[in-house]
Parts: sequence; C-alpha cells; structure tokens
Amino acid sequence: MSSNVRCLAPHKREQVLPLPVVLLSTMSKDGILNLAPWSNITPILRPLDEIILASWIKRDTLNNIRDTGEFVVNIPPVSMTEQVMVCSKDYPPEVNEFAEAHLQPRLSQKVQVPGVEGCLAWLECTLTEEIKREKYYLVIGKVVNLAVDQQYFNEAGEMDYEKAQPLSGILGEKGMWFTRPVFGGRYAEYAEMFTGKSVAAK
Ligand SMILES: Cc1cc2nc3c(=O)[nH]c(=O)nc-3n(C[C@H](O)[C@H](O)[C@H](O)COP(=O)(O)O)c2cc1C
Repeated sequence: MSSNVRCLAPHKREQVLPLPVVLLSTMSKDGILNLAPWSNITPILRPLDEIILASWIKRDTLNNIRDTGEFVVNIPPVSMTEQVMVCSKDYPPEVNEFAEAHLQPRLSQKVQVPGVEGCLAWLECTLTEEIKREKYYLVIGKVVNLAVDQQYFNEAGEMDYEKAQPLSGILGEKGMWFTRPVFGGRYAEYAEMFTGKSVAAK
C-alpha cells in the first residue's frame, strides 16, 4: 500500500462521497407544509422515472410522504444555502417550514404538495414503495412531473451548471462544506461507453 493511502474509520465513510443537497417538500395530512434538506437521494438509472431516498425513522418528511403519498424534490442553488439550513432544524410537525425559511411555495402540476420558488428544478413524485431496514427506510418514488427553470437549461434540457450553481456537499467530522459542481475539463458522449462504435471528437 502506498504511504499516501490510509483507511478511514467506519463512522467516517460518508465523508468520502460528494453528495447532492436537495430540499424535499411534503405536506402533512392536516395541510401543514414541510421542508427538509436531503442528501441520501439518487435517481434509479436512466431515464429518471424513479428516485430512491433514505430516511431515518423519525422524520416528519417520512410521515408526510406516507400520509399523502406525495413529495417534491426541489433542486436548490447555492444561494439558497442559508434557507436550506433553516429547514434542517428539528421543528415540530405543526410548524410551516416554508414560513420559517421565508421560502415561497410554487404550485405543482401533478401533485398537491407545492415546490419551492427559486429552485432550479422540481421533481414531483408519488410514493411507490417503502423498504424497511432496521434503523431507516428506503423510499422509492415515481417522478410524475419534472419542471425546470429554463434560464438554467438549454433546449436539450441540459443544465448550465456554472450559471445554475446547484447545491451539493461534502461531509466532515463535525459539519459539512456546501459546494457546487465545476467543469472537470472533459465532455464525454454516452457512445464512448460502447466498444465498436465510432466516437466523434468534441
Ligand atoms: C445537507 C443535509 C442533508 C440531509 N440529508 C438527510 C438524509 O438524506 N436523510 C435524512 O433522514 N435526513 C437528512 N438530513 C437531516 C434532515 O434534513 C433534518 O433532520 C430535518 O430536520 C428533517 O426534517 P423533518 O423532520 O421535517 O423531516 C439532512 C440534513 C442536511 C443539512
């Protein structure tokens, strides 16, 4: 093993993965709006028909998704970080977190739950399946509508990530660094993944 390599303790494993930071909006059965930042969330392959997220057992978000069968995955820009952190606080379920964070609800098209005004994109989802683990749940949602703020997306639906500055994060020992993607110097066509196909130079 090279002298530059060392093993991280099991409780630090999550510190090696760059993570997305989204805002989940949900509604209680009494109509109270809830917001929470979420990083353990990923699309299930392509195209983005389904999405999976991991939730600790005690989450108003999880209860609301169960009660209404709906949620919206909002993609916040880095400029929304302060409001995202307000939404991370452990408010009781009767508190409207849009109001606490001074965020405006945005009417959704296919679900009752509103999205968050000022986000870059909104994935309206319905609950498909819940998978119970010992200490957490995996929630699979079907994406029933996907809307984007077109000033950050081109005609092909590609995000101008330099302009949009979608929020992401790196976890540390006692906190997290909020980050955003920058170009890594290489664009690759999907065709490159397949042998025997000619690839146009870009
Ligand atoms: C950046 C960030 C990412 C988070 N990701 C998750 C996550 O993936 N799963 C989870 O259960 N909690 C996650 N949390 C914690 C919840 O957002 C937090 O506990 C929140 O208060 C839950 O609100 P709720 O009880 O209204 O659902 C995250 C918090 C932050 C700040």
